[in-house]
Amino acid sequence: MLFAAALLAFGFQNTGLEEPWALGQTAASTAERHATEIAMSVLADGGTAVDAAVAAHFALAVTYPNAGNLGGGGFLIYRKSNGEAFFLDFREVAPANATQDMYGLAQAKASTQGWLAVGVPGAVPGMAAAHARWGNRPWSSLVTPAAELAARGFRVGERLHKRFARYEKALAQDPLTGALFAPAGKAIPAGFLLKQTQLARTLKSVAADATAMRRGAIIEALVENSRKGGGILTLEDFENYQPVLRPLHTISWHGLEILAPSAPSSGGVFLTQCLHTLERFPLALWGWADPRTIQIIGEATAAAFGIRNRWLGDPAGFDFDSADLIDLEAIRSRAKRLSPKRYTPPQKQISITADESTETTHFSIVDGYGGAVSLTTTLNGNFGAKVMAPGGFLMNNEMDDFAAQPGAPNQFGLVQGRYNAIRPGRRPLSSMSPVIVVRDGQVDAVLGSPGGPRILSSVLQVLLNRYVFGMSPFAAVAAPRMHRQDLPPELRYEEGRLRGGVASKLRQVGQPLKPLRAIGYISAVFRDYSGELQAIADPRFDGLGMVSATGEPKPRAQPDGSKLKSNLD
Ligand code: DON
Repeated sequence: MLFAAALLAFGFQNTGLEEPWALGQTAASTAERHATEIAMSVLADGGTAVDAAVAAHFALAVTYPNAGNLGGGGFLIYRKSNGEAFFLDFREVAPANATQDMYGLAQAKASTQGWLAVGVPGAVPGMAAAHARWGNRPWSSLVTPAAELAARGFRVGERLHKRFARYEKALAQDPLTGALFAPAGKAIPAGFLLKQTQLARTLKSVAADATAMRRGAIIEALVENSRKGGGILTLEDFENYQPVLRPLHTISWHGLEILAPSAPSSGGVFLTQCLHTLERFPLALWGWADPRTIQIIGEATAAAFGIRNRWLGDPAGFDFDSADLIDLEAIRSRAKRLSPKRYTPPQKQISITADESTETTHFSIVDGYGGAVSLTTTLNGNFGAKVMAPGGFLMNNEMDDFAAQPGAPNQFGLVQGRYNAIRPGRRPLSSMSPVIVVRDGQVDAVLGSPGGPRILSSVLQVLLNRYVFGMSPFAAVAAPRMHRQDLPPELRYEEGRLRGGVASKLRQVGQPLKPLRAIGYISAVFRDYSGELQAIADPRFDGLGMVSATGEPKPRAQPDGSKLKSNLD
């Protein structure tokens, strides 16, 4: 009685549930302040990590238009408080009219810019499917904050302005994109109040009914624009799009369980390859900054990229047993051929310039029930295909993630194989790797990154930093990173962050080096040694991580997700 009175006095609704106090800390880390704050308020309201992720996803579509999206797709990993875990793939698919050779060499740009570069987006069907299965807050309450933000406007920050400025020429080429982000060919300045009325209308429709992004006026106008712009999207493409629940790729390593995505992500295979290859070497003894450590990590990642690029793609096309790619005996025997004193050159030589965009976005969330979401979402390149739907949202250029021209590098310098050839309805191979680390049955870390192939190296290094080198959560994210894929052969390091002595040791073994401004952009939540959550935003950029106070009471207990209506079944 007294307890109930106390609840009312604190302003909580009496939901009839027994243990409203039994809920714990919440945490969210995203690349953008509004998105983190919106996610935290959903969590404070008793939402699950999935509810908060849905709200953050829509907020990022407004405030982080270079990567946040309605016109893209991504991967979500959810681990419920009871330990059940899922991988939801809401990545784009090739339109039904796509063909393997639709991008001739003569028009190489067509796979990155313009309507022909666009894959059928999965963002809204994906969020709707996740919410129907695992959410407990009303759908409209998760979309409406983004709709309001789009209508009210937000101030463009310095960094977003720079992104607009860097791409202003390309943005101005599309009338809708140009009018909004680069009117009269000039990027909107920092401090500008960016209102997106058309996007606000679209979000309002989506808040009322998620199928607004499957059929109806918004999609009809989009398809018409695509047709006029030389694209091949059809109404049926949108009608037929399906998010897919796929097997999780679970890696047992160092007494931990790492939950990673399976194909069409390369995350699971890549991390398994690298973590088990590196077990052979005394990294902890050498230390994280030792040239031997750096060289052997580079050798391991280059070899794993070779496997990724040759074998991976949409699993629908596999004509081999993909379990062979993670066979531990084979991995350990290949590891014997690697040495920190050697540089293994790629088999082919090719000259590639891969740019350093960070244009994908990752966020990490832990709810008050102990559940967690790790979600990476993208338009692929910066501002995607740089074309906008009449509904006020940018479209992806995910078609470039296929081996659009087999044997030729894509925008990230990846030269990929026949399992990643374009086929109607298939998903392109991805590097996006949202992961959740479980220790003793409890979520210990949630992390991921943008960066195309550099996502893989970044996630790997943060795991090594935390669990092999014993760094604090912040140090694990802040420490300098490097990246080596099979082609190009250079080991990329962060400018000014590789000591001269180390660089010369690496050169001595024959390893070519090249600087990059920054590698990866981690948004993470960790549990520290006292059991408290820490939300970490990568100091390389200006995201925001927030945690609630320990033991802050929440009004609701988690409903049983299986009783909720599912549109995946
Ligand atoms: O799925 C992929 O691997 C790419 N579309 C990710 C692109 C990306 O991270 C761009 N950011 N730098």
